[in-house]
Amino acid sequence: MLEKIKQIALEAGEVIRDGFGTNFQIEYKTGENNLVTEIDKKSEKILLDFIKKTYPNHSILSEESGRTDKSSDFIWLIDPLDGTTNFAHGLPIFSVSIALQKKGETILGLVYDIMQNAIYAAESGSGAYKNEKRINVNSNRNLSQSVLVTGFPYDISTNHPNAVKIFEYFLKNSRAVRRLGSAAIDFCYVASGVFSGFWEVSLNAWDFGAGDLIVREAGGIVTDFSGKNLRINSKQTLATNGLLHGEMLNVLKNMH
Ligand code: IPD
Ligand code: CA
Ligand code: CA
Repeated sequence: MLEKIKQIALEAGEVIRDGFGTNFQIEYKTGENNLVTEIDKKSEKILLDFIKKTYPNHSILSEESGRTDKSSDFIWLIDPLDGTTNFAHGLPIFSVSIALQKKGETILGLVYDIMQNAIYAAESGSGAYKNEKRINVNSNRNLSQSVLVTGFPYDISTNHPNAVKIFEYFLKNSRAVRRLGSAAIDFCYVASGVFSGFWEVSLNAWDFGAGDLIVREAGGIVTDFSGKNLRINSKQTLATNGLLHGEMLNVLKNMH
């Protein structure tokens, strides 16, 4: 199954790579900062056509098309282009994210970091891989020596009053905080030991489905801000190397 998903992710990725820097159409979703391009939709069509044909009884939750409920034990969580703002502005950091859940547990996750030619993948119980090579979280115990990553939701100007305070805290107490603009890639950089932690509020299941499993299979911990495992409707995400989880969780619990 994973091999088939890799092939279809590569196909969608090719369409995205070919579309990068071209004169594609842009539409606005909920506001002037929440975009969708015709390339997001082309990528989604490739992925959905494949899943519908190959697994006709499975349910799907996909960012641009919503949910098709087949009342199946299986549901696919799909972000056909994670990092649309980067993509639309010519910044080459974006990905395709695909996860499969069975009875609420994620059993397969794949993130294709298109411009780095990197496929991150995990199946539950089998470890996490970057292009067939096993990856692991780092072993950093000190926040002050950690590089962290975060992201901000599209409704940051009206909601989430404490988001910037939390950002400031981690900025002042770590080595650096980055903001890449593709949550799926943020998870993969935690999984491969680049970053020691990633937090964000208001992600959707299509953003975190694959990354959650990839980080956990790489030896990390992923929870919401109360320390619970992520569920399909979770609204907060903390993914760490495990060693920093308690410390970062405390900050988020107190400041969120
Ligand atoms: C967004 C990216 C970004 C994150 C936003 C997401 P999209 O996804 O993952 O890094 O900060 O919260 O919505 O809209 O580019 O698929
Ligand atoms: Ca996304
Ligand atoms: Ca998207």
